[in-house]
Amino acid sequence: MAPELAGSQIVIELVYLIASVLFIFSLKWMSSPTTARHGIWAGEIGMLLAICGTLLHHGIVDYRLIAIGLVLGTIIGIPLGRVAMTAVPQRTALSHAFGALCVTLVGSAEYYLRTPSELPPFMMAVLSLEVILGGLTVTGSLMAAGKLQEILPQRPLTYKGQNLVNFALLACALAIAVSLVRNPGAHSLFPFMILIALAFGVLLIIPIGGADMPTVISLLNGYAGLSAAAMGFVLNSKLLIIAGALDGSSGLILSIIMSKAMNRSFTNVLFGAFGQVQTSHAAEEAKPVRSATPEEAAAILSAANRVIVVPGYGMAVAQAQHKVRELYDGLTKRGVDVRFAIHPVAGRMPGHMNVLLAEADIPYDRLVEMDEINGDFPQTDVALVIGANDVTNPAARSDTTSPIYGMPILDVDKAHTVMVIKRSMNPGFAGIDNPLYYLDNTLMLFGDAKAFVGSIVRELGGGHG
Ligand code: TAP
Repeated sequence: MAPELAGSQIVIELVYLIASVLFIFSLKWMSSPTTARHGIWAGEIGMLLAICGTLLHHGIVDYRLIAIGLVLGTIIGIPLGRVAMTAVPQRTALSHAFGALCVTLVGSAEYYLRTPSELPPFMMAVLSLEVILGGLTVTGSLMAAGKLQEILPQRPLTYKGQNLVNFALLACALAIAVSLVRNPGAHSLFPFMILIALAFGVLLIIPIGGADMPTVISLLNGYAGLSAAAMGFVLNSKLLIIAGALDGSSGLILSIIMSKAMNRSFTNVLFGAFGQVQTSHAAEEAKPVRSATPEEAAAILSAANRVIVVPGYGMAVAQAQHKVRELYDGLTKRGVDVRFAIHPVAGRMPGHMNVLLAEADIPYDRLVEMDEINGDFPQTDVALVIGANDVTNPAARSDTTSPIYGMPILDVDKAHTVMVIKRSMNPGFAGIDNPLYYLDNTLMLFGDAKAFVGSIVRELGGGHG
């Protein structure tokens, strides 16, 4: 290698090393709300360095196509970065689809550009893994995004022998991979392997209900990361191996955490056809519930010593977090102790409630995780549930026939008074009725979360003592 080439190679490797370190710190910092912003910056700077380092490669003979790609990517990326927070899961799924498409295209190009002698068994095996994982992630992520955006039906589409068909397809793709490892020159087989992977991605997702999509997206994130790591082996890029392994392992760990928080096993998420909307008997029988007005709710809250607010998906949809902050201020000024109970799967993505409450500048030390706060509900005057449903459903504790039986919940029913802000008696994401609403100590506050909390704040400001 000429000295100037060796020199630029060292610069590239150094830039990649710094980018890898930044990616590792990014993940570390993002695991705590106090350092999360640094984490985002570290990830962004790491990615910028990775792109700049790649542009220094001597193999690049023409920058025009790359420039077009960068412009196109920026044009698509800017609006994608501005979606509402409730749409982040489907937006993330789209990003996985783009990443996986890139991995699959690069893998295909490498296969056709290399001679069979340049594809020894290990290389061919890794390349096959790369395009199989990449292909299934492309279509799987598009399906997941479509279901969450409600472009595709959310309910699970199932048929007899479905799992068998899916396993057979995967087995075919793997059999082709094995043939290619033995004979890399069998070019005609390669497109079939990709086509089967693409079909498998669609068929893997259609039997899974909308309720499980966030967990599935996290799993697809894991697949996308693993395929990128495989691409790193093919391209001999340590940066890709490190970034792909970080992405792959964090995606898999996150899906395990989410499954655990819902008391579901991985196999149950993937093959259980959960998430069908079920008609509840209680709703059909129209049991009586007690409801209250904003004036009554404000009076009860201002007479309380201890209040625990339980936010959920409805608070996110209504964008009520800033009004909730005003409520927090109003009550705190009156000497009421107000804390927030955070369930690990409240909302539609991990950390959803933490992000929203942080956006409204609610102090971090007022946010308490489920395990820590559950013991305090019996000594709490008011549990104010704002747009949360499944995560407060006592059936998860006691009703062995409930689809969410065993899911850890926030024990709001043990508070002296429970007040629930929601618009109707409709069920939450799991599609089941909530016995909490019929308890003697529960008051329903029917209305949009933002509007209702706003009315309570006005009532409190009206000088009730
Ligand atoms: P949900 O059980 O989905 O309940 C949300 C409630 O918010 C609904 O009952 C709805 O009732 C109410 N709501 C909707 N819009 C509203 C508005 N504008 N104002 C007031 N209320 C509104 O939410 P949750 O308790 O947060 O539980 C999350 C669910 O998602 C769980 O089943 C969980 O397993 C699932 N899930 C979460 C994740 C992650 S990572 N967070 C991942 C996978 C699955 P109305 O229609 O009557 O208003």
